[in-house]
Amino acid sequence: MLSVNFANCLVGSIGVEHGLAEHDLFGLEARLKDAHQNVLQQANAGKLGFVDLPNNTDEAKKIMSWARKVRGSFDTLVVLGIGGSALGNVAVQQALRPAYWNLGDKKARKGWLRLFVFDNVDPRWAADLAGAIDPRKTLFNVISKSGTTAESLAAYFIFRKAVEAKIGPKKAANHFVITTDAQKGYLRELATREKMANFPVPGNVGGRFSVLTPVGLVPAALTGVDLVELLNGAKAMRARCQGGSPRQDPAAVYAGIQYLYYQRGVKISVLMPYSQNLYSVADWYRQLWAESLGKKVDRSGRTVNAGPTPIKALGVTDQHSQAQLYMEGPYDKIISLLSVTNFGHTTSIPRVDKDHYLGGRTLNELLKAEEQGTRSALTKAQRPNLTVTVDEISATTVGELFFFFEMATAYMGELMNINAFDQPGVELAKVYTHALMGRAGYETQRAELEAMQKNETEGKYVV
Ligand code: PA5
Repeated sequence: MLSVNFANCLVGSIGVEHGLAEHDLFGLEARLKDAHQNVLQQANAGKLGFVDLPNNTDEAKKIMSWARKVRGSFDTLVVLGIGGSALGNVAVQQALRPAYWNLGDKKARKGWLRLFVFDNVDPRWAADLAGAIDPRKTLFNVISKSGTTAESLAAYFIFRKAVEAKIGPKKAANHFVITTDAQKGYLRELATREKMANFPVPGNVGGRFSVLTPVGLVPAALTGVDLVELLNGAKAMRARCQGGSPRQDPAAVYAGIQYLYYQRGVKISVLMPYSQNLYSVADWYRQLWAESLGKKVDRSGRTVNAGPTPIKALGVTDQHSQAQLYMEGPYDKIISLLSVTNFGHTTSIPRVDKDHYLGGRTLNELLKAEEQGTRSALTKAQRPNLTVTVDEISATTVGELFFFFEMATAYMGELMNINAFDQPGVELAKVYTHALMGRAGYETQRAELEAMQKNETEGKYVV
């Protein structure tokens, strides 16, 4: 069961100057309870779909049975999506499949598919991927909630052409499965027109909260992840995220502490898994936290330019990279260690040199010593740190983690009095991209951009 240990954020561990008093956190109880109520109200009003996703076991079972049927026809799955339509897939894959999954043959993968997630428009990367896969044996899952995102559509066009070149235009549609809005958008029209396999993204679930919708579930099923376990983990966490009390609700504790430090000017929030498998969960969290909480205006329309900066780090790797800054740099960070109790595997360090202290110990012991060493060193340096622990890495605990961070984000948005569920900044960049690519209807923005670019390129500031 997931736990949050925040002892090292308190005065008793890190001193009066940098520590919180217990009454600081418990003094937030009424506001956290309100936050919880507001989130529930929005969920009950049908506006916040992510809260109810853990109940979708019937949909999960249908997706799993569909995946069992189609997997025989393919060897590889390529996800074409970006942001919330990609990061959750990478997180699930890295957490729940062996590290070198894609190198194994189909037998080693028990009939499930290799997975590549193409979430950029880097031309070389696209060419490399096209060269690495056999389109005849590849299924492409085009994922875009809006169905209009330029990056994902460009990728679709490129790989559609590649498939057509190998098997002809008639059969090409069978190599694509579409995950998009149920009614609108280019991809919805495409799926309907070409009768492609498709799954809906609920309109009331924002992209970065969509990992437990078909956005995350379809690729997970095709790589052999048990979706019911994933949802059960989320459901168990939802049952614990009740009431918003920092004495019981783990997401409320996490949000409350992050908020108190943010208010004190500690504006950087580091998530540092001590597990290679969970590194991409930190990547997913980075988007969730940044895009949800980085906002220009609060709910009353006041300009606040608010938002903590999320950073991802990896234990133990970043002990040799970031840790120096965390220990001795500015007091502007709270560090959350993400810890795993049981790795399900023990790797011994052989006694190659009989006099060496490492011989006969295990990597598990070394990792835990390093984790504890970092925790203690941060605490000694009076750096606020907390530890989120999961018992093991499984579909259940990954489901718990997803829901925990989503709920914490929702609470944090309430505490900050901002809308955590929109992304006007991202939208503006999308509009500008469309304008620059010559999309009809975007002529005004194109003129605006051309004027801005003139200033950039004709100025005297390029050396
Ligand atoms: O969280 C969000 O809303 C965004 O990050 C989107 O996921 C991202 O922009 C991709 O959008 P779409 O799924 O519509 O292609």
